[in-house]
Amino acid sequence: MRISTAQLRSAIEEDKASGKVPFLIVGNAGTTNTGTVDPFPELAAIAKEENLWLHADGAYGASALLCKSRRSILNGVELCDSLSWDAHKWLFQTYGCGMVLVQNRKNLTSSFGTTAEYTQDAAETAESLPNFWNYGPELTRPARAMKLWFSFQLLGLDAIDDAINHGFELAEIAQSSLERLPDWEIVSSAQMGIICFRYKPSGISATSLDDLNTKISQKAIEQNLAAPLTTRLKGALVLRMCSIHPGLSGEEMVAIIDGLDQIAQSLLPSVNG
Ligand SMILES: Cc1ncc(COP(=O)(O)O)c(C=O)c1O
Repeated sequence: MRISTAQLRSAIEEDKASGKVPFLIVGNAGTTNTGTVDPFPELAAIAKEENLWLHADGAYGASALLCKSRRSILNGVELCDSLSWDAHKWLFQTYGCGMVLVQNRKNLTSSFGTTAEYTQDAAETAESLPNFWNYGPELTRPARAMKLWFSFQLLGLDAIDDAINHGFELAEIAQSSLERLPDWEIVSSAQMGIICFRYKPSGISATSLDDLNTKISQKAIEQNLAAPLTTRLKGALVLRMCSIHPGLSGEEMVAIIDGLDQIAQSLLPSVNG
């Protein structure tokens, strides 16, 4: 489920041949559905050859950079021109705390910088701290970074590293628990704290499997066991877990998978075909 660099190259060629001007490649540093990471070293080489901007969507996955034992999964991300990174995802902040890191901050000021007469006394100089209104679309803005700064100061990088690693481990524990049970299929292996799977006993049609897994999700939520919401991968309806809550233990994850298996078995007699 990664970008095919061969297809990317031919899409660029097709665009150029039809008179379009490609300007941007966006790679994913952890997709929402499966946690997949695109091949950034190759994307960076193509961006360089073709003189394109390379952006990494790290809204979810960039936090792996703060986990020493896992960060190599994002090799090549440092070659991007820009990286988006949501602290309200895997840095455990409340909503509304996102970041964009850029190689060259002049690109931000030349896009967003404003020079109104009424802000001239506070104009940014080489010696001053940055005026953040020049780096994004908002003029008046809340101190969104404050809570993140406090988390770093209070918890420290080691605790944050451990909490992120725990998210990776929980998805891996879910995977090994599922592998021990009959009739469960891992559709996308644990990566970046995300795993997709489905209950797939033999002899059941594709449509009925989709219905069965939808019902498993609904029942798990009704019973307050867990909320494995559904998504689709290559057409099939699957259960998706994004297991990054630092307060959930490995034992609890095993119990959740066992609970899902019990729900699945209880629903099986009601499946038609
Ligand atoms: C990979 C990825 N990019 C972007 C977004 C959207 O981010 P936001 O919630 O900041 O709008 C999400 C949200 O799930 C995501 O997973």
